[in-house]
Amino acid sequence: MIWLTMHNPELGCSSYVIADEVTGQGLIVDPLAAVGTEAYVLAAQDAGVDVTMVVETHVHADHESCASELSAALDVPHAISVHAPAVFAHRDLSDKDLLEFGMLTAEVWETPGHTPDSISLIIRDLRRGTTPWVVLTGDSLFVGDVGRPDLADADEGAIQSAARTQYQSIHRLMELNDGTEVWPAHYGSSPCGGIFMNKSPHSTIGYEREANPFLAMDEDTFVDQTLRLLKPPPENAQQTREKNLAGTY
Ligand SMILES: [Fe+2]
Repeated sequence: MIWLTMHNPELGCSSYVIADEVTGQGLIVDPLAAVGTEAYVLAAQDAGVDVTMVVETHVHADHESCASELSAALDVPHAISVHAPAVFAHRDLSDKDLLEFGMLTAEVWETPGHTPDSISLIIRDLRRGTTPWVVLTGDSLFVGDVGRPDLADADEGAIQSAARTQYQSIHRLMELNDGTEVWPAHYGSSPCGGIFMNKSPHSTIGYEREANPFLAMDEDTFVDQTLRLLKPPPENAQQTREKNLAGTY
């Protein structure tokens, strides 16, 4: 598997270039405007990746995406959850959709909570086996933390309900094997998570099962703690979300 992580350390954002090492076919996930469209095109070229799709795990509110611009530059589809109220041209993704690139697959799991349109991508390399190898968890499960539930809808009832949904989503991810690698969309001091988010950008399902405090809580405690420990929201969150929904930069 070809695997590149491209970060914006200032905001604690991660993006990914993942491809089949034989055919070169691959995906770019959650590309960041701060990194820049050109940097992704050059990184893919350098690594011999033939990008077949640009995918977003959700509509971001903490940073500007370059997914629309990158998909246009590469002339490939821009895919996002069917639940995202996106204005830009895109391919809808739904639960259990399977993206195939070479012998790699990415299975879509809807993992709402941070936003109604949050998805995770379960990556398999069929050259090696059918067991999931990696899960890109977007802003559902973080290393040591979980995605905040208040950025898509600031209504108090909606936030409570989003936190309950997040609880279900992170427990759904626990259906994966302990050895599955966890690579979220954020790490460190990102405002999309809480105060326990680790500076390491990755982990495993087994380690999070054992050490993530939010996975040890019952649902009511989870909702209570998630809301009680909220950090200040990202600056200009609503404007950034709207800009990303419009796909204009
Ligand atoms: Fe986010």
